[in-house]
Amino acid sequence: VLGRLNHVAIAVPNLEQGSAVYRAMLGARVSAPQAEPAHGVTVVFVELPNTKIELLEPLGDNSPIAAFLAKNPAGGIHHVCYEVEDILAARDHLKARGARVLGDGEPKTGAHGKPVLFLHPKDFLGTLVELEQA
Ligand code: CO
Repeated sequence: VLGRLNHVAIAVPNLEQGSAVYRAMLGARVSAPQAEPAHGVTVVFVELPNTKIELLEPLGDNSPIAAFLAKNPAGGIHHVCYEVEDILAARDHLKARGARVLGDGEPKTGAHGKPVLFLHPKDFLGTLVELEQA
């Protein structure tokens, strides 16, 4: 089912400060902030040789990461994203094994314009898992 690690997403209270950590301290290439109103976040991409780190800052009143940041005010790892070849086949495979898919269970268009699904953290070792059709 699993392909490459597409990204690790880190929720941050302040995108400018978060970007500075990766840019200035770690010397990484960090993209310009990109507002994703449909997803309730503003995001920057940190490009690494083998994957990406995404820093997410809440955008708007009903950001899906607001509750996470209330519990983790300094920020923290919010989810990991794995690539799959066929998202519907992956979903059905996981559902048949008891995994819970968040929302209505239908793929949505993610931040990269590709179909994504989120899986319940309680079924994956306490980690919110995003699947993205590569
Ligand atoms: Co993601």
